[in-house]
Amino acid sequence: MTAAVVAATLLLLRDDPDLGHLVDRRSLDAIDRSIREPLPGVGWALDHLPWSLLRRAALGLERIVSPGFVAHYALRKHLIRTALLRAVVDHGHRQVVLVGAGFDMLSASIPDVASVFEVDLPATQAAKQRAGRCGRDVTFVPVDLTRASLKAALADAPGFDPRHDTVFVAEGLLMYLDRPCVESVFADITEMEGRVRLVASIVTPDRGGRVRLHTQHRVVDLCMKLLGERFQWGESVERLEETLAAYDLDLESVSSTTELQPSAGVRERRSTGEVIVVASGRTGPRTRRTRERSTSTGSFAQALPSVVPAR
Ligand SMILES: C[S@@+](CC[C@H](N)C(=O)[O-])C[C@H]1O[C@@H](n2cnc3c(N)ncnc32)[C@H](O)[C@@H]1O
Repeated sequence: MTAAVVAATLLLLRDDPDLGHLVDRRSLDAIDRSIREPLPGVGWALDHLPWSLLRRAALGLERIVSPGFVAHYALRKHLIRTALLRAVVDHGHRQVVLVGAGFDMLSASIPDVASVFEVDLPATQAAKQRAGRCGRDVTFVPVDLTRASLKAALADAPGFDPRHDTVFVAEGLLMYLDRPCVESVFADITEMEGRVRLVASIVTPDRGGRVRLHTQHRVVDLCMKLLGERFQWGESVERLEETLAAYDLDLESVSSTTELQPSAGVRERRSTGEVIVVASGRTGPRTRRTRERSTSTGSFAQALPSVVPAR
């Protein structure tokens, strides 16, 4: 349900003068088709209400329940897409695994030189497949990661080769899993035989130590609880490096969408507490939990000249 809600916010931005360029236009039709089954009311509204009214109502609701979320999500996706394309184009990773792919159609942005595997809950994936193609070939890997491992699911996926250099994307996923499950995902990633990279969004605990977007109002906490989609795992920025290092992942950058807000023209600047992390797997013999920690972590958002169009 939340996968469909967040993907639907990209539709709101398609003609936004400030943030519209962050949306990959190749994905919009497929998003529109795929959210109609999980959110029939939104489908009805898209077909029957004037677009300007619908857009104003949706952005008004966003201000009430989770101010700044739409801009945060668009910037998060921009950062993740940029890191993913760098992994494919600059670092030569030719396998992409989108873990918890949802309905955002990130696959549509990935060059054809890479093969794409979408790992997701069977129910999410079935709804997506019924909605039709996203515009490129994708291998669907249905799995509930609380019941089966990522490694086992990929071993059964036609065409997946653990020897190939692979980039894993976990956007908006890890917070829904408990700590042992997150750690099993990290362990499975670094057990691949080829080079690996991880691009993930991670929620940092708020001042009260709760794992939630720092900007969301109580009503969102309640809705997520009622939907059975509560956040469970988060990590503070200070502990990220150590947590990833325990699984042989070297933290390369930690970025926040707030860093991009000024150049993207976002008027309401707020920090959700969710960060975008890029890490690379260590090559050579595994030295789990024993290696010295690297100290060179920066933010790749700072290195981006400005928020440039996705294509
Ligand atoms: C909030 S959505 C994010 C979707 C997409 N990555 C995005 O950023 O728009 C969370 C995704 O994680 C998937 N997910 C949640 N729990 C999962 C589990 N136990 N196993 C596999 N996928 C899961 C959901 O089906 C959904 O696609």
